[in-house]
Amino acid sequence: MNFASDNVVGASAPVLEAILRHNGGAMPAYGADPLTLGLTPRFRALFEHADLSVFPVTTGTAANALALSVMVPPFGLCLCHEEAHVMEDECGAPEFYTHGAKLHGLSGPGGKIAPDTLDRFLSGLPRHVKQMPARALTLSQLTESGQVYAVEEIAALARIAHAHGLTVHMDGARFANALVALGCPPAEMTWRAGIDILSFGASKNGALAAEAIVVFRPDLAETLEFRRKRAGHILSKGRFLAAQLDAYLDGDHWRANAAHANRMAARLAAGLAEIPGVRLAWPVQGNEVFPILPAGLDAALRRAGVVYHAWTSRSLAEGDRVGEGERMIRLIAAFSTTEAEVEDFLVLARRAA
Ligand SMILES: Cc1ncc(COP(=O)(O)O)c(C=O)c1O
Repeated sequence: MNFASDNVVGASAPVLEAILRHNGGAMPAYGADPLTLGLTPRFRALFEHADLSVFPVTTGTAANALALSVMVPPFGLCLCHEEAHVMEDECGAPEFYTHGAKLHGLSGPGGKIAPDTLDRFLSGLPRHVKQMPARALTLSQLTESGQVYAVEEIAALARIAHAHGLTVHMDGARFANALVALGCPPAEMTWRAGIDILSFGASKNGALAAEAIVVFRPDLAETLEFRRKRAGHILSKGRFLAAQLDAYLDGDHWRANAAHANRMAARLAAGLAEIPGVRLAWPVQGNEVFPILPAGLDAALRRAGVVYHAWTSRSLAEGDRVGEGERMIRLIAAFSTTEAEVEDFLVLARRAA
């Protein structure tokens, strides 16, 4: 049983079939193929936005770092949550691609930045040539604590950021899980709420290796194609990236995958919450579960071969703590997680408890 992440599983069958289906014959290389060219109208229709541009890449790190490279100059600050993937888990790629911009982490429970926190920070920033000016805000949807920013929260943060001259990025590595949780159209959760650039994740939710940078402001897209090439993310056989994204979106496959993963996470959470001594750090809103459990139960689960990550408690609400004899962990359900896997895990957990 492996609940370590939604990228420990393979790609979904429709995605793999699409790669095979588009394998035969010659097509223009470097993104000039008909599949890649078809992504622009497709994403424009999906996001109800006539001027957006879409740039496929192979990793979420590349999507985030390249997006930020057109938003923040080398002398600028990019604000994020202190636990954000861009800050903690991308080996300095945003700083590298922006040629030196600095990330600044803001704290907040559940991996979320509160509008007040952002406003206070921006209003208090010294405006002197000696200090780096804030130029961008990046929000993770889902957050690192599996929480969903409501549309109104995104809009409030974007309003403040824009008023201070910042652009706003969304790290949507788990975009589909959040979208399904909110039950709103993609436009509502992004550009209509003030998002300027989105990293549209697909790999965690069924693709083999495909993400898309979706740029809602044409002026921000001007240099991105050159940057993508310099970063080595224009694939010569670009059709395979497009084929994945097409299959991902066809027939609402992406929403069905995310809805399933979210359901499996909810079931894991409900079962765990019934076990004495187990509580949830945050409500389950997407496909991630963060139980706080007795250390003995954690050890027993690991001994039984269940794979998952220990998690940091930095983002807990004030007054909430992981006690001496407790451990906090993260379980993630994927599009391919089965009901049987969830049930087997819960049986094991009940027995071990
Ligand atoms: C919030 C978040 N952003 C971005 C990524 C993208 O990472 P990768 O470069 O591994 O595709 C991940 C993957 O774990 C993530 O969790």
